[in-house]
Amino acid sequence: MLIFLDTANIDQIRQAANLGIISGVTTNPTLMSREKAADYEATIKEICSIIPGPISAEVLVEEAQAMIEQARDISTWAPNIVVKIPATSAGLEATSVLARDNIKVNFTLCFSLNQALLAARAGAAYVSPFVGRLDDAGHDGMQVVKDIVDVFNHYQLPTQVIAASIRHPQHCVVAAKAGAHIATIPYDVLMKMMHHPLTDIGVARFSADWQRIKEQT
Ligand code: E4P
Repeated sequence: MLIFLDTANIDQIRQAANLGIISGVTTNPTLMSREKAADYEATIKEICSIIPGPISAEVLVEEAQAMIEQARDISTWAPNIVVKIPATSAGLEATSVLARDNIKVNFTLCFSLNQALLAARAGAAYVSPFVGRLDDAGHDGMQVVKDIVDVFNHYQLPTQVIAASIRHPQHCVVAAKAGAHIATIPYDVLMKMMHHPLTDIGVARFSADWQRIKEQT
């Protein structure tokens, strides 16, 4: 499972890039607004220059033709751009047109296997089931991820599944077990994935033991 970072925060992206394990970044209008990134294009271009993998930037319009035009423009911002299109009927229409033009689409705000299946048929490169938001609504978000992965594998559909709306490290564990191709993870959850208290205790003990032996010799 590849790890994408789910943020528009440039400092977080730079810090995570240093870890050497980030394969891409996803943004959305809420994440952009959190960073007060008024210049959308400049911010996305900066992210594209830091991480060489796929960078998802979302369209900001809702009608099919407007989405197509905006997506075509966004796709010229950098070679590694992926355009995020919402899982609406208009979004599906836009995805079909854009995929025919070889523009990579991340079909976002996906909450069901049916939406994911239609995205795959339309030629979306990625589909993003929103696990946390499904859980919030009383559903089993990870089961939706697993169902999508199973059906895509069964029919050998090339669309990649991005487990999105990840809220805690356990989501990452279950996404990996479910066979998600990618998990897009907020920075704080990424840090929690690495942390284990027994590692901290072990490092402190090794260090103390080594110090003691040095003092005796
Ligand atoms: C994914 O591409 C989205 O940006 C993100 O995962 C949404 O997560 P949220 O439900 O925490 O807003």
